[in-house]
Amino acid sequence: MRLRRHLISIDDLGDEDLRWIVQRGTRYSAGEGGHGTPLDGDVVGVLFRNTSTRTRTAFSAGALRLGGRLITYTPDDLQENTGETAGDTAAVLSRMLDLLVVRSAKGDGELRSYAVSRRMGVINAMSASEHPTQALADLTTLTRRFGTVDGLRVLYAGEGNNTASALCLALSRYPGVELHLRTPPGYGVEQSFLDRAATYAKAHGARVEQRHDMSSLPEVDVVYTTRWQTTGTAKPTADWRTRFAPFQVDAGVLERCGGPVFMHDLPAHRGEEVTAEVLDGPASIAFDQAENKYHSARAVLEWCSGAGTS
Ligand code: CP
Repeated sequence: MRLRRHLISIDDLGDEDLRWIVQRGTRYSAGEGGHGTPLDGDVVGVLFRNTSTRTRTAFSAGALRLGGRLITYTPDDLQENTGETAGDTAAVLSRMLDLLVVRSAKGDGELRSYAVSRRMGVINAMSASEHPTQALADLTTLTRRFGTVDGLRVLYAGEGNNTASALCLALSRYPGVELHLRTPPGYGVEQSFLDRAATYAKAHGARVEQRHDMSSLPEVDVVYTTRWQTTGTAKPTADWRTRFAPFQVDAGVLERCGGPVFMHDLPAHRGEEVTAEVLDGPASIAFDQAENKYHSARAVLEWCSGAGTS
């Protein structure tokens, strides 16, 4: 029996695993190494409890291209909907599936309760706390664009959401990286993620800092933002739009940052977190970034299937 691997958090990856997935995804993105079927014979469950365009399609198409077969569940298909426990669900699915790709409206706890056996690898396709496969696709995009992630300077402007949390854990593991978080007051990256990122940053010679205003912006290589209304989550304060407004990325922000490229995990709301001029302008690599979700998903599937080596 092949032992499968779980990817619930970037923390689940050792440094070599992280680099293997990013390099593999980068090769796929460059059109190399895409001829094998390492998932031949594998059955992949796809369970999205929230809407998704990119991630669901990337993992479904990726699994099919790698030779796997899919079982796709709608949010209400499983008997968990009638009261069966997640533990019992996992005990059953792990005897039938090889991989389970899950988007959860909850924190990572639900995903951890599925990850009970190495017979079935569980992949976090976004939870309320972290979006690790987005960060892996982003590292792939950065590697394609700059040749390396080492030494890059990134400004993240906007909500300290699940994408920002995963970026903290991922970017802090590359030497010389600077991650400048600019998040609205009350909407920062959680301290537990900052603490873990600080530990990585210290070990790898990176830097992560968070501030809650846009008054002083550093010169950077990349400006990154995400949609203000993250899938499936409500804002706890009524005045959130007032707090978020100064964090919109417009042409002035790019100019103040010295002419960086612009990244966005999409979907976007033009006129909210980013202007149309920036998202659709020459600095934007947001749609290359979206394509790289597919390339990176294949690398993640390979690694989680146990077919990849690190
Ligand atoms: N970026 C991202 O996760 O997109 P979807 O919500 O469309 O999957």
